[in-house]
Amino acid sequence: MKQPLDVVGLFPEISAIVDEQLRDGVVAIWEELWAESPFESIDDVPTSPEIPASHVRHCHAVLALALAAADVFERFHGVTVNRDVLIAAGLLQDVSKLVEYEPNGASAGYTDAGRRYPHGFLGAHAALTHGLPPEVCEIILTHSPTAARFPTSLEGKILYYADQLDVIAIFGDRWYKMLLVTK
Ligand SMILES: [Fe+2]
Repeated sequence: MKQPLDVVGLFPEISAIVDEQLRDGVVAIWEELWAESPFESIDDVPTSPEIPASHVRHCHAVLALALAAADVFERFHGVTVNRDVLIAAGLLQDVSKLVEYEPNGASAGYTDAGRRYPHGFLGAHAALTHGLPPEVCEIILTHSPTAARFPTSLEGKILYYADQLDVIAIFGDRWYKMLLVTK
């Protein structure tokens, strides 16, 4: 039996979003994709089929890292970060995993949609459909290293690196240097 999702209970960070419409949009998108998800318990959704760590814990950690980076940017450099965009995009950038993955024995595999579309596409599509700001939709679409390009906004760049930092903690460093030798 599928468990209902208490989105605000799961992610209390949502209440820090000042814009009410944005806050409601984040909740509605999580509810919508959870209703379509093949998982019965949110605790069973992994970070990816290759990374068994909890999807929800990864989301919390990425957002906490991003908010800490925003604090440092503001405290040391006076650089302002849009917290509404940061929190909303941080909570939505991986929401598509609910429909990209499916249970597969003790682990998880990819759904047809997960194989068909680039990671993040269905989250960005849901955000567009729900009328969320283009800044948030763009971050969702570009947050993955597999995306065609990097995020352009400060909030998107913070989330991008926070995401990769947390992957180091739960999986390992996936980055390597490629030295280009020029004559
Ligand atoms: Fe992601």
